[in-house]
Amino acid sequence: DKGNHRHFMEKEIYEQPEVISHALSHYVDLGAHTIKQTGHDIDFAKLRGLAISACGTAYLAGLIGKYWFERYARLPVEIDVASEFRYREMPLSTDQAAFFISQSGETADTLASLRYCKEAGLKIGAIVNVRESTIAREADAMFPILAGPEIGVASTKAFTCQLAVLASLAIEAGKARGHIDAAQEKTMVRHLAELPRIMSAVANLIQPQIENLSRELSKFKDVLYLGRGTSFPLALEGALKLKEISYIHAEGYAAGELKHGPIALIDENMPVIVIAPHDRFFEKTVSNMQEVAARGGRIIFITDENGAAASKLETMATIILPNVDEILSPMVFSLPIQLLAYHTAVFMGTDVDQPRNLAKSVTVE
Ligand code: M6R
Repeated sequence: DKGNHRHFMEKEIYEQPEVISHALSHYVDLGAHTIKQTGHDIDFAKLRGLAISACGTAYLAGLIGKYWFERYARLPVEIDVASEFRYREMPLSTDQAAFFISQSGETADTLASLRYCKEAGLKIGAIVNVRESTIAREADAMFPILAGPEIGVASTKAFTCQLAVLASLAIEAGKARGHIDAAQEKTMVRHLAELPRIMSAVANLIQPQIENLSRELSKFKDVLYLGRGTSFPLALEGALKLKEISYIHAEGYAAGELKHGPIALIDENMPVIVIAPHDRFFEKTVSNMQEVAARGGRIIFITDENGAAASKLETMATIILPNVDEILSPMVFSLPIQLLAYHTAVFMGTDVDQPRNLAKSVTVE
């Protein structure tokens, strides 16, 4: 049932505040602002490293997870798309754990990498939406994302719930490994607790502007997304979302890679979507934006209030989100990314929930 939404994708975008709150309450105590013990037997304190493997959007959630585990828990993360992971013959050892991220829990490549790691004797964690799925059943520790059924082929609420779970696990790991003390834990969990309210405000705030902008975007054939830090995987996710439902060619790049190739493509026919909260990378990303502007590129700038105040560049559009703590920004910045892809596809008249050539669950390799 789509309720009063035109598509499941739209419904699922707007459900995010509610399901994220659900997911969070499983992993954190929203009153005491502490991490909950969920009873799994992954000993983060003893791990030498973590291997993460997944496909598509779930892989991009894992990539953001890597930034968090390494930064907050000093836990080295190896991550790859599942179809490459198991053939790389990477050295694995039993003092690593392996995490698999999958909405459906049935993705063939992800399942095959899980079995490969199990064979190698690693402890297996599964971050899944469908709790009765094969990936969930074959794991030693199952971490549900509690997003509820996701019908739209384009993953939206599963992505942000995967992020909420990964953020909670990174804080748990940081605590276990002695890199996050009780005061920091409280502060971080307090920020997470604000996420549902912030996301619901942001969705309503930006909707009209995004809808107008999407009409413009639907006229282009190519779009480039740029970001740094955790906004880099988000740039990849933005490009994936746009291409899969609107069929507009889109690429995501680390902003710093611009001058190593893609800058040759810049002209007025390829809008550049820059995802840049006012974080410690902001100045660097702005200088990449200047390089785009100097070559006649049109910029769609997705930033926060501090970022908008700090940049004087002329843009095709600037989408201004509230300032939020950096651990929240991947989830909050997902909203403009998802809504932009959604409305653009609606203008193009594509089958948003069931895009051509794609299946919700990919059960062949
Ligand atoms: O069910 P899974 O999370 O394992 O699916 C992985 C990918 O097939 C999936 O995320 C795909 O990339 C989405 N259609 C992206 O929106």
